[in-house]
Amino acid sequence: MPLIEWTAELSVGIDSIDEQHKKLVNMINALNDAMLTNSSHELLGKIFTGLAAYTQKHFTYEEDMFAEYGYADSVEHKRQHSELIAQVVELKERFIENPQGTMSADLMLFLKRWLTNHIMRTDKEYAEFLISKGVK
Ligand SMILES: [Fe+2]
Ligand SMILES: [Fe+2]
Repeated sequence: MPLIEWTAELSVGIDSIDEQHKKLVNMINALNDAMLTNSSHELLGKIFTGLAAYTQKHFTYEEDMFAEYGYADSVEHKRQHSELIAQVVELKERFIENPQGTMSADLMLFLKRWLTNHIMRTDKEYAEFLISKGVK
């Protein structure tokens, strides 16, 4: 069973955003699978680096939409993005710098909550606004 199961609960109702969130879910699941199958430190580091990079790309995509549609709560949302990206980059760096480092179930649980809480609490707020502006 994947660490994060994609359910309707995670959908924000906008196709392009759901696709990107699914990709992030898949990346975290891939990291978890790699951990469970005792993959090399190098492979885990690669997946982790990809997750951090794609997260940055996704956040930029959302923030561009806020600017395009004049989303009023963008400042707070962007502040959360900065915090989230700082957390994942720090964890990724710490893992890569330590060749003995292993991925732990706790770290995976952290990443699961890190992503799903943001989608369900914060992304859904802007999605409602964008949908009211006709975004699908
Ligand atoms: Fe998002
Ligand atoms: Fe977001």
